[in-house]
Amino acid sequence: MATIAHLSDVHFGAHVPEIVEAAERWVIGRKPDLVIVSGDFTQRAREAQYRAAGAFMDRLESAGLPTLAVPGNHDVPLYDVIRRFARPLARYKRHIDDDLCPWFENDKLAVLGINTARSFTLKDGRINYEQMHIIRDSFRAVPPEKTRILVTHHPLFAMPLGEEGALTKTVGRQQPALEAVADAGVHILLAGHFHRTFAEAARKMVENAGPALVIQAGTATSTRIRADEVQSFNWLEVHRNTDVDLQVVAWNGTDFEGRDHARYAYDGQMWHRRSGAEAMAAGDK
Ligand SMILES: [Fe+2]
Ligand SMILES: [Fe+2]
Repeated sequence: MATIAHLSDVHFGAHVPEIVEAAERWVIGRKPDLVIVSGDFTQRAREAQYRAAGAFMDRLESAGLPTLAVPGNHDVPLYDVIRRFARPLARYKRHIDDDLCPWFENDKLAVLGINTARSFTLKDGRINYEQMHIIRDSFRAVPPEKTRILVTHHPLFAMPLGEEGALTKTVGRQQPALEAVADAGVHILLAGHFHRTFAEAARKMVENAGPALVIQAGTATSTRIRADEVQSFNWLEVHRNTDVDLQVVAWNGTDFEGRDHARYAYDGQMWHRRSGAEAMAAGDK
């Protein structure tokens, strides 16, 4: 089994220090194989906010945890127009990671991060054709038994926003991006941006989406919570690339605690959420 802590939208500058400390404590205490942070490290891409975000990542890494990060739309300067267009991610590269296509691989996982934040759109995400090539190319030599995960800040799918039938905008060039994801045999898509936890089989949401399981994280540590949510992050236990446990770890006012728990099984065509009895029966595998 491989374990992953998936945090997103930490938004330093709009963070709650007590919640940051609690998240670190929880994650470091569990020693996951990988910590993923899917963007929006800062609130306004300011130097001090980046310094705090970089220190947060350094503390996780000093505790011996491998990390993988992608930038979000808030990590591109909004008001500093010169910086926004000339050097949009210079601070991100200095404080977080100079690699905008990070890759992690061990004996169970192969994980690729792709940057969807752009200077010319304020908050919408986009994938370009070179990135689609990188998605196909990166996973080409990965052995079939490893679980293939793609991390973006913007989800590749429109997400339900809570109101009846309301959906968010999709990522730019969604259709060719999904074709690349399907060609690459990606099992799990991890993203953030909407500050809402969510998991669903991609194929149920979009025709020819391929077999990926779509998992969204809420905001882990910021004050920017939606009305019906609290700060949270995801804990994944990947048993094989056919069997994933997802637990939402949520802030209860004083600490983080495991909340909603779901188990997903992949039948070769599609992911299914297991019922409680099936999940319990599979638990002792
Ligand atoms: Fe965000
Ligand atoms: Fe965002």
